[in-house]
Amino acid sequence: MKRNILIHPDPRLKKVCAPVADLTDDLRKLADDMLETMYDAPGIGLAAPQIGILDRLIVLDCIKEEGETPRPLVMFNPEIIASSDETNVYEEGCLSIPDQYAEVTRPKVVDVAWMDQDGNARQETFDGLWATCVQHEIDHLNGKLFIDYLKPLKRQMITRRMQKLKREQARA
Ligand code: NI
Repeated sequence: MKRNILIHPDPRLKKVCAPVADLTDDLRKLADDMLETMYDAPGIGLAAPQIGILDRLIVLDCIKEEGETPRPLVMFNPEIIASSDETNVYEEGCLSIPDQYAEVTRPKVVDVAWMDQDGNARQETFDGLWATCVQHEIDHLNGKLFIDYLKPLKRQMITRRMQKLKREQARA
């Protein structure tokens, strides 16, 4: 089932999310819903707080090329356990901040540990776009948005655009 994506500014996007203690069928279903919502948007990552659920759960799939096999990843309690000194700059966007993009500098390579949908402990090294995406999504679990990396003026400009967008949506 497709879920509704919250648009910034929203207090739920600023919260620190709670760790998942028990992997229930409801949480597995939630992860499936998040993947469906992400692919439909379309986007390459989605965090639970973006649909108003304050649990530490993210989904991602950075395969964008037509004809390539999708690689959906579901991560409960994802944690960055190591980051490279080398950095990368990507023009980032966010499904909660539609049509706004800005360059963000982050570590180029990260090691991430998480629990998968079957309850298995997993660990993997991510590079390039995957590394940026997983860091962006984990930030969401700590109430942090990519615009928080920008200069205040730019951040305020984007926030005002989003407030205007929300007013327009409310009127529609
Ligand atoms: Ni985002």
